[in-house]
Order: sequence, then structure tokens, then C-alpha cells
Amino acid sequence: MSSKQVLICQYRSCLAQGSAEVLAAFLESSASDVSIVPTECQGQCNLGTTVRILPDEIWYCRVKPTDVDAIAESHLKNAQPVDRLLHPRIHPTYSTP
Ligand code: FES
Repeated sequence: MSSKQVLICQYRSCLAQGSAEVLAAFLESSASDVSIVPTECQGQCNLGTTVRILPDEIWYCRVKPTDVDAIAESHLKNAQPVDRLLHPRIHPTYSTP
């Protein structure tokens, strides 16, 4: 099983949207086989906080600290991306199988 990485933007626009708190919430809630990685700008600044999950290449937008449990539980633990938080430009037609 390949372990997942959670990339959480810590650059200007996302920080203004509370990305430091999102990072802290992921550090608290995630399993030990998940890597939590603070990043530079990921180019989606108007929809921060930007969170990207690798190797799945799933992008989440407007993530708030209160959304972290849903991503950790549904996506990281049960491999079900959280539809309501998916980035609409990157995943325009995404639906869960
Ligand atoms: S500042 Fe976060 S995506 Fe650009």
C-alpha cells in the first residue's frame, strides 16, 4: 500500500484563508502512514485553502479546519474523496464510483 501525502498550501492567499489552521488540524487528525506536507503556492490561490492528495491527484479547495475530519476519515482512511470539497475546475465531472 503506497502511503498518501497531503499537500497543504501555506502561501499568502491560502494563509489568509486559514491554511495554517488547516495544516494544524491535519497534523492532529491523520494516521501515521499519511505524510502531511506544507507547500508553497499551488496556483489555485482564489480558492484557498488548497489541499492536494498524492498519489491520487485529488485537489480540494476552500478547505476549512472543520473539513479536515471528513477528508481524513472518508478519503485517507476509506479511499472515498469528499465530493463537496473537490476543486471544480480540476475535477469538473468527478463522481465517486
Ligand atoms: S496561495 Fe495557496 S494556492 Fe496559491
